[in-house]
Amino acid sequence: MLPPRLQVEQLTFRYDERKQENTLENVSFTVQKGEWLAVVGHNGSGKSTLARLLVGLLTPNEGSVHINGIKLDEDSKWKLRSQIGLIFQNPENQFIGTTVKDDVAFALENMNMAYDEMKVRVEQALEMVGLEDFAEYDPSRLSGGQKQRVAIAGLLALNPSILILDEAMVMLDPKSRKELMETLSNLKTNNHITIISITHDMNEAQAADRILMLSSGQILHDGEPAEVFQKEPTLDVPFAEQLRRELENRGSKVPDGYMTEDEMVRWLCR
Ligand SMILES: Nc1ncnc2c1ncn2[C@@H]1O[C@H](COP(=O)(O)OP(=O)(O)O)[C@@H](O)[C@H]1O
Ligand SMILES: [Mg+2]
Repeated sequence: MLPPRLQVEQLTFRYDERKQENTLENVSFTVQKGEWLAVVGHNGSGKSTLARLLVGLLTPNEGSVHINGIKLDEDSKWKLRSQIGLIFQNPENQFIGTTVKDDVAFALENMNMAYDEMKVRVEQALEMVGLEDFAEYDPSRLSGGQKQRVAIAGLLALNPSILILDEAMVMLDPKSRKELMETLSNLKTNNHITIISITHDMNEAQAADRILMLSSGQILHDGEPAEVFQKEPTLDVPFAEQLRRELENRGSKVPDGYMTEDEMVRWLCR
């Protein structure tokens, strides 16, 4: 059997060595090939710190991260870096190229890849995010969602097995968000890429296979979205669940469990 794409064991980290307080404490979870994990939690709960540890930008005080069975450490991190990509909130800060295709090619150029192979990789990456017709565009003139997709293509060109998005949809309008969600769903389904999306948007979290909730640097919940929404009253849950709770509070006999919007519509129209 193949090792899990990502295995996090007893991860503990603190920014300040002199303090006892850990920013992350004993965090353990695994993510499989083609799985989509949403990471949620209030501000300061340690989500971005976790993302930085997963890509080797920070080094844990205790515990370990394995990517495709290889332990992330000082020696392996340069090699593993192409296997796990991180996308941030603001797409503007991530551009280097003057055309979309140059931008996507940037990391490959740095690796001294042969031109022919580079050309194929860039075309494939743009196709994977649905931007094959935008290769010659100036990236600064694209919509927010398209910019994030260019940034994703830049990572995809490196053939990663894991993509991490740290609140990557915050600056996007609803239409761009929807496009980006579709792109992620296609990458998961068609290319079996593992996706870890850090988010405050419970509609985004709902699209994931699983939700991991952090609280003060520890895992509070790890389960399917429906399960976590039901267990955790402090989450700003999707509309259908808000409605279900409201109806329940007013004494209506609603189903116990969490429902998706479609299920809620079917139940209301029954
Ligand atoms: N570079 C840093 N140096 C010191 N403390 C930090 C640094 N970055 C984050 N922190 C602290 O670590 C905690 C977790 O932060 P972070 O991982 O950014 O949380 P989140 O992404 O969930 O909002 C917070 O208390 C934050 O103030
Ligand atoms: Mg953060």
